[in-house]
Amino acid sequence: MKILFDTDPGVDDAMALLFLHRHPAVRLLGVTTVFGNAEIELTTRNALYLCERFGIAAPVARGAALPLVRPPRGAAPDVHGDDGLGNLAGPVSTTRAADARPAHRLIIDVLRAHPGEVTLLAVGPLTNLALALAEEPAVAQLVRQVVVMGGAFGVDGQGGNVTPVAEANILSDPHAADAVFTAPWPVTVVGLDVTHRVLMDHAFFERLRDEGGAEGRFIWEASRHYVGFYARAVGVAGCYVHDSSAVAFALAPELFTTRAGPVRVVAEGIAIGQTIQRTAGRRYSQGEAWEAVPDQRVCTAVRADAVLELFRCTMAQGAAAAQWTSTAAT
Ligand code: BDR
Ligand code: CA
Repeated sequence: MKILFDTDPGVDDAMALLFLHRHPAVRLLGVTTVFGNAEIELTTRNALYLCERFGIAAPVARGAALPLVRPPRGAAPDVHGDDGLGNLAGPVSTTRAADARPAHRLIIDVLRAHPGEVTLLAVGPLTNLALALAEEPAVAQLVRQVVVMGGAFGVDGQGGNVTPVAEANILSDPHAADAVFTAPWPVTVVGLDVTHRVLMDHAFFERLRDEGGAEGRFIWEASRHYVGFYARAVGVAGCYVHDSSAVAFALAPELFTTRAGPVRVVAEGIAIGQTIQRTAGRRYSQGEAWEAVPDQRVCTAVRADAVLELFRCTMAQGAAAAQWTSTAAT
């Protein structure tokens, strides 16, 4: 499975990147960064750091520093730490250099090089994807699928996590999100409707630390600040699984239930950042904004235990394989 990962690391982004890295079926063709959980300098440095530390060879390209239109929402140090990686104890430095191309250009080049084969997996604000579409609309025909972590569609009353209706990635660039959802490529949206059903609790993190090798120990360290935020601000023991649920959808879509219909994003006013899906085929007397918009898929249910087990097994088996390799080499 060829994957291009667009990300704003970010603690849960780091977990998702390591999940991808450890899965034997994944071939990671590139990592593109975007502002979001931290400023673009930090998210890019963090992506380079993670790739160097864990031996991820894919090119890393720096992407958008700002949303397409509205002023930036600001970083989230209370959630992801001042360094964007949970306030790691040691310095986050790297000798890896970013690709010379901007992120949206790397996206275009990779999709052109592998027509019909690449899953574009986006777990931050969607600015880079919108820029790629604007510069080269033909990418819509070149991608295999787009999987997005973002949005909240009111399933079982699920609202936003930044405003009553808006989720962080979509609110960070609602114009870009609307462009991505209305483009003629197949998108699946993995929103809070399902990511808030998947909870990594303390016992899960302890097991990951003990059985997940170097990656598991890193995730343990980087997630202490993050789970502290969840305890303080959300009243949850552990954390919800946002970005890694999108990875799980790419790897095992049968673990999710989806529904079809065009998706749009509110770009101004008190509902800015809200994601809305119209029922497929439904017509309204004043529904112009929904005409000629392709159906996309929105996740409405998830087998949460299976997603957690997929994550845990991937990390544990990766650790076992790494152990076997180093033993065999000595
Ligand atoms: C999303 O926002 C960020 O804080 C996370 O990395 C995730 O992509 C959840 O709303
Ligand atoms: Ca993210």
